[in-house]
Amino acid sequence: MPIIYDETEKIFMLHTPNTTYAFAVVDDCYLAHVYYGKRLHDTGIRYLLREEEPPFVPSVNRREKNSFLDQAWMEYPESGMGDYRESAFCMRTADGFRGSELRFASYGIEAGKPRLAGLPATWGAEETCSTLNVYCTDARTGVEVCLAYSVFEDVDVVTRSVTVENRGNESVYLEKVLSACIDMENRDYEMVGLFGSWARERHVQRLSLGYGRQNISSFKGESSHQEHPFLALVTPETTQTTGEVYAMNFVYSGNFIAQAERSQFDSVRMTMGIHPEGFCWKLAPGEQFTAPEVVLTYSDEGLGKMTRTFHELYRTHLIRSPWLRRERPILINNWEATYFDFDEKKLIEIAKEASQLGIEMLVMDDGWFGNRNTDEGSLGDWEVNESKLAGGLACLVEDVKKFGMKFGIWFEPEMISPDSKLFRKHPDWAIQIPGRDITQSRAQYVLDLSRQEVVDRVYEMVAEILRNADISYVKWDMNRQLTTMGSAALPADRQGELYHRYMLGVYQLQERLLAEFPELLLENCSGGGARFDAGMLYYSPQIWCSDDTDAVERLAIQEGTAMVYPLSCMGAHVSACPNHIVGRNTSFETRGHVALAGTFGYELDVTKLSAEEKELIKEQTVFYHRYHALVAEGDYYRLLSAGETGGADSFLVVSKDKSRALLFYVQVLARANRKNRLLRLQGLSPEKMYRVCGKCYTGAVLMYAGLNIKLLQGDFKSLLWEIEEITE
Ligand code: DGJ
Repeated sequence: MPIIYDETEKIFMLHTPNTTYAFAVVDDCYLAHVYYGKRLHDTGIRYLLREEEPPFVPSVNRREKNSFLDQAWMEYPESGMGDYRESAFCMRTADGFRGSELRFASYGIEAGKPRLAGLPATWGAEETCSTLNVYCTDARTGVEVCLAYSVFEDVDVVTRSVTVENRGNESVYLEKVLSACIDMENRDYEMVGLFGSWARERHVQRLSLGYGRQNISSFKGESSHQEHPFLALVTPETTQTTGEVYAMNFVYSGNFIAQAERSQFDSVRMTMGIHPEGFCWKLAPGEQFTAPEVVLTYSDEGLGKMTRTFHELYRTHLIRSPWLRRERPILINNWEATYFDFDEKKLIEIAKEASQLGIEMLVMDDGWFGNRNTDEGSLGDWEVNESKLAGGLACLVEDVKKFGMKFGIWFEPEMISPDSKLFRKHPDWAIQIPGRDITQSRAQYVLDLSRQEVVDRVYEMVAEILRNADISYVKWDMNRQLTTMGSAALPADRQGELYHRYMLGVYQLQERLLAEFPELLLENCSGGGARFDAGMLYYSPQIWCSDDTDAVERLAIQEGTAMVYPLSCMGAHVSACPNHIVGRNTSFETRGHVALAGTFGYELDVTKLSAEEKELIKEQTVFYHRYHALVAEGDYYRLLSAGETGGADSFLVVSKDKSRALLFYVQVLARANRKNRLLRLQGLSPEKMYRVCGKCYTGAVLMYAGLNIKLLQGDFKSLLWEIEEITE
């Protein structure tokens, strides 16, 4: 049984194949965390609460309740009642007092996993997933909190979310509703996170955890380029293959906070949820609020196993697009080829040339609507600019289809330009604080998607374009952070709901789009990769990874991204050189090898390439089809990280049956007077015989002794090798 309540011990035990998560009822009312880690097959773990160590049970000596609350391992800690570590929950009552006393009331276990209303979340069938709902009530207000835990039987994951319901007679104000919290003994943990900037997203960072609070967060209204809703605590010896890892990832795309706190008693509290800054949710009698889902996983085999668990979960229980396991069309996007300077003739020229090289879809990026010839205006005016696209969109799409290609289109539905018909008609639809300037960013404002009429209007404009032309793909962009948060439609005591209501509006838009156009291939994007998160993956099976398409810069970006998300999600394109962001020249071959590690495509003017480069495109497109399924669904093993190894980046993707693998290797800078590298592979079967570049090896030799990788002459050189089992 994946979920057990041991009545004698008063302990909930949640089992995945290799992990156990346990918490207990203490003193008939408190929920205390007991254990998370490697699978336990026994009961009899209540001693882990160390109840004999005073002060533990608060009722034994009521004077010690405060000390109890500040040192026990709490399952869902509350603010202001005596636990001075980071709380997960804070509520203000209508009479202005903060505080709550959530006491265990009841629980229920169900097969499967109910949907979280309006939110993206993992899903699971009754055969593979069970859910535990634990209900706690606050007697003073009548507020009920349901802590939901879903346990997967095919992957080592427990998910948590929280629903608060006001069953009392007066409104309350939720100032903080985090989704997950675990307490544990400190073991000199180090924090692993993903940090970056625009065009430099999700670089891996590892720091030791000191006393006090260290957090990762975004208050930008999006998961952000800079910080990422992922946090892992690892024991110091942790590598890709060894060490213990506790990881959390948020299935949400808006403001978040992920925190680790080392306490005076050397326990560590790890939390994740919606950032409380700027958040205050009024819960009127009868209303419910649901906090988004956090995915928790534990690995005792290093970061590599954590990565493969996330990949498996997202491929089997999160991404619901019918495109998930289909071969995605190889696309060519005109952004870096033309920017705003294009017309239908130029696009047709690109499509014609691309179609002869094996490219299967043309994506028309920004600049096709309103009067948009720069980034100065027209967002919100989703009408085709016929002076640019003579004959209209449907005609262009049909012309492109004549080359056997599909057609994709760019939108930025969440935005409104000050210079747009939409803004002139509805100035109050922009998010703003009355009497203050609305901050512009990229010359644009943000639409108030907390308002249903705004969501409806935006939806209709986007859908109308899709209804009138045969469009297979949409790139959904979002190019600025949220500021000056105010909604003309929300009452004063609900303005603190705007950030989250905005996200609910975005989710509703994407939900509706996929309901009306179920075959649509949706790619999310946010000024590159500012919204590359599990929330967005629920709607789109691929996300544009970064505006930096330089093959060398991409190594760290894709390494960090792939630490959590499957390769099949990472939008990666071959672009022109010198690279538009960093000015670097790399070979066409290396650019291809780096982009083949993701959702493959091109972003350059194919009509300007040399014959040799066109031949390489033909080879790359054939290669993509041959290995697409392996890259998309294989197990990922990170072998080398350029930052750590003197300039070489390498990973391996291995098929589930271990009969095929692909080895990616990039040597960043050439170095003098070095020896060849013996590269130890991972994930193969030690007994099987494999062929690599015409030579035969056992899996054991490749993994334990290593493959001889010659020193390559020149900078930015790469290898992409097939590894195949020899069966005869
Ligand atoms: C930002 C995206 O990341 C780019 O790929 C491109 O679509 C531009 N926006 C267009 O404005």
